[in-house]
Amino acid sequence: MAPLAFMTEALEVRDLTKLFFRQTPRGWGGFLVLDHVSFKVRPGEFVAVLGPSGCGKTTLARILVGIESLDQGEVLIDGHAPGPPGQDRCLVFQNYGLFPWRTVAQNVELGLELRGVPVNQRREAARKYIDLVGLTGFEKYFPHQISGGMQQRAGLARALSTQPRLLLMDEPFGAVDAQMRTALQDQLLRVCEVTGATVLFVTHSIEEAIYLSDRIVIFSARPGRVVEEVTVKLPKPRYASDVRSDVLFGEMRKRVTQILAERTDYYRAGDPTSDSAVLHTD
Ligand SMILES: Nc1ncnc2c1ncn2[C@@H]1O[C@H](COP(=O)(O)OP(=O)(O)OP(=O)(O)O)[C@@H](O)[C@H]1O
Ligand SMILES: [Mg+2]
Repeated sequence: MAPLAFMTEALEVRDLTKLFFRQTPRGWGGFLVLDHVSFKVRPGEFVAVLGPSGCGKTTLARILVGIESLDQGEVLIDGHAPGPPGQDRCLVFQNYGLFPWRTVAQNVELGLELRGVPVNQRREAARKYIDLVGLTGFEKYFPHQISGGMQQRAGLARALSTQPRLLLMDEPFGAVDAQMRTALQDQLLRVCEVTGATVLFVTHSIEEAIYLSDRIVIFSARPGRVVEEVTVKLPKPRYASDVRSDVLFGEMRKRVTQILAERTDYYRAGDPTSDSAVLHTD
């Protein structure tokens, strides 16, 4: 077997820096959101990005999927500069992103439809992924006729149906209740096991990050910088045992909580006009 060091990374973020321009009391200023962010994700790995609100997690996900520009640095997917949005990576949003006038099946088929996949083939793929996320029987329902958790699963099925090499998820379970969140987490882990997907999962939940991931990349408050990477060595599959009660789980939670409290300025929401945030052009 080839040594891991020679394996091509599924995702490599190198020195990524992002500024937004904003008007402030002192005139227009560059508002630093991501500051020299670097990390890697190996093929098949599940990596969580954890950080305070406003530290640039969504911005990072949008840059990686190609719907937001970067100002400095580089993103490599499978060792290459990424192509146009959607070809090799897919973003699952917190608000599901389903079209209300399309049924579950039509929503799931959308990604393939946009790529010109013939109708029979995309029906077949939709059936397969709807089944994988446990929505068989709801194909003809419209989004408003199903629950938030089911809508989220439909969003996941749509993302998976295009078989992206990299699945980006931005707080996908933030809008559902605690029970449903646990069920969706388990379903996601099962789906990843079957598909071998590489996942970058944005969350601000410490427990979610520990439960789901192989590694957690911890960001500071804005401007987002990587302060630490923590490897999660809990046994897999995590849903097969009561991993959350494991002593190791408790230790991880303590360690990650401590890093967030001591090294990320977690509770400093961030004054958008503070001098550390704004690089004035005047
Ligand atoms: N298009 C934009 N123009 C200007 N500023 C923006 C834009 N998008 C995001 N920002 C700013 O960038 C910062 C980071 O936002 P982002 O949404 O990436 O944070 P986040 O880490 O996802 O936060 P949360 O955990 O609350 O979702 C915020 O201060 C936000 O106001
Ligand atoms: Mg966000």
